Amino acid sequence: MSEQVVIFDTTLRDGEQSPGCSMNLEEKLRMARQLDALGVDVIEAGFAIASDDDFAAVREVAQTCRRPVVASLCRTTREDIERAWEALADATRPRIHTFIATSDIHLQYKLQKTREEVLEMARGAVRLAKGFTDDVEFSAEDATRTDLDYLCQIVEAVIDEGATVVNIPDTVGYTIPSEYHHIISTLKQRVRNIDRAIISVHCHNDLGLAVANSLAAIAAGARQIECTINGIGERAGNASLEEIVMALRVRRDLMPYENGIVTEELYRSSQTLSNITGVHVQPNKAVVGKNAFAHEAGIHQHGVLKNRLTYEIMTPESIGVKTNNIVLGKHSGRHALKAKYEEMGYQLARPELDKAYKLFTKLADQKKEIFEEDLMAILQDGIAQIPERYKLRALQATAGTATLATSLITLQDTKTEENKTETAAGDGPVNAVYEAIDRITGLHGTLVDYTVRSITRGTDAVGEVFVHVEFEGVSYTGKAASTDIVDASARAYLNAVNKALYTKDRSKSAPSTAPAAAA
Ligand code: KIV
Ligand code: ZN
Repeated sequence: MSEQVVIFDTTLRDGEQSPGCSMNLEEKLRMARQLDALGVDVIEAGFAIASDDDFAAVREVAQTCRRPVVASLCRTTREDIERAWEALADATRPRIHTFIATSDIHLQYKLQKTREEVLEMARGAVRLAKGFTDDVEFSAEDATRTDLDYLCQIVEAVIDEGATVVNIPDTVGYTIPSEYHHIISTLKQRVRNIDRAIISVHCHNDLGLAVANSLAAIAAGARQIECTINGIGERAGNASLEEIVMALRVRRDLMPYENGIVTEELYRSSQTLSNITGVHVQPNKAVVGKNAFAHEAGIHQHGVLKNRLTYEIMTPESIGVKTNNIVLGKHSGRHALKAKYEEMGYQLARPELDKAYKLFTKLADQKKEIFEEDLMAILQDGIAQIPERYKLRALQATAGTATLATSLITLQDTKTEENKTETAAGDGPVNAVYEAIDRITGLHGTLVDYTVRSITRGTDAVGEVFVHVEFEGVSYTGKAASTDIVDASARAYLNAVNKALYTKDRSKSAPSTAPAAAA
């Protein structure tokens, strides 16, 4: 029987820190359910003490996902560890993940502590965490720039205190495969009690080596890999889960390890994340990029037609890409829609199904064939949203080379049930629409980013608009899909407006309990 490699997903914690990838609670839960379906062993759901939202995310992921281990990050202070434990209280398999930096550069400039002091803090943190749960992970932040003798010493000390997983992060993406292999091998050889813990690796991608480094560490004896969907994360990102898992599957001859990932869920996981964040993977991204299985060169096409193995080392089907995924049409009923969503991993309650069906029939009138991506868009756009303070009731926009762009908008204020109408002019129809919305809501948004892309095929394709809008210096994302891009633009902007108002309302009613994060 081959050895198991534990797949630890940190999309919701380290991944969520990357620009444009922040998710609200609802979105985190949706992603967590998909990670569960994907079969990850550990979901790191957040950094409980960092904010009330992070705390809620850890608590609710722990309540929702009962199979995987659910972890919360925390520093080494009592307050951090207790807060992590509080968030994890309902988890079936809780893990406290405590960390402190160990490199001299971090000790000197960030922590202003001696090596001895940091060693004691690490020991104390693991001891305290162990009082709450048996499953305790310790991370030596910036391990790859840490003196190797000191790293061995601290790893040995935390295992003595009961750490069950010791993580050796390449925090700044600095190491290379041979060096990382050496670090892990040294720990295996020199740390007296290393057999009592799993060695974990956590690589950042600053030099584009995160996946290669993770695999080198596995060859040296590490048995847990920390990674994220689509490789999202701080700066250049973290090691990409889908690349690691497919490398392990395709090159099983050289890396004969088991893992619990259902590879057929990889593509859907990648799409779910992109749909939530609006951050799309580049077309040539390994495994999940749009072109990952496209053969353009004539000579390649010829070979593939004769035998796919000539130029394909894995099949699209193995990651869950369906070459023909037309799923439903105009005549499909509510039952078929429900069954299709279930097959895609979504259990829709009656009111959600009713809402989805209404949107589905509207879309089916506009386009002949409905693809999985369309159903996903319906889900993202119409359901599982935060409460809508303003609803779009009517929209007219004009544009042209010889005329000024104008708009006429009617929004319903759901608080008062009142319909309000405004007109505005602008540089283009989208600008005119945003101006009219601002006049009605009284908020003044600054558009920081605007993207539009076609999410389905054909000239009747659904276009998705994604916006980043700043209200009073705070950035919100908004997203909507429609076959009419001005309509999608208006609703994406309204989505950001509604999030801003919802956040404002919530912060008025919820007392703040958590200090800001320091990591
Ligand atoms: O990159 C890093 O060092 C981390 C740790 C907190 C695990 O994210
Ligand atoms: Zn990290």
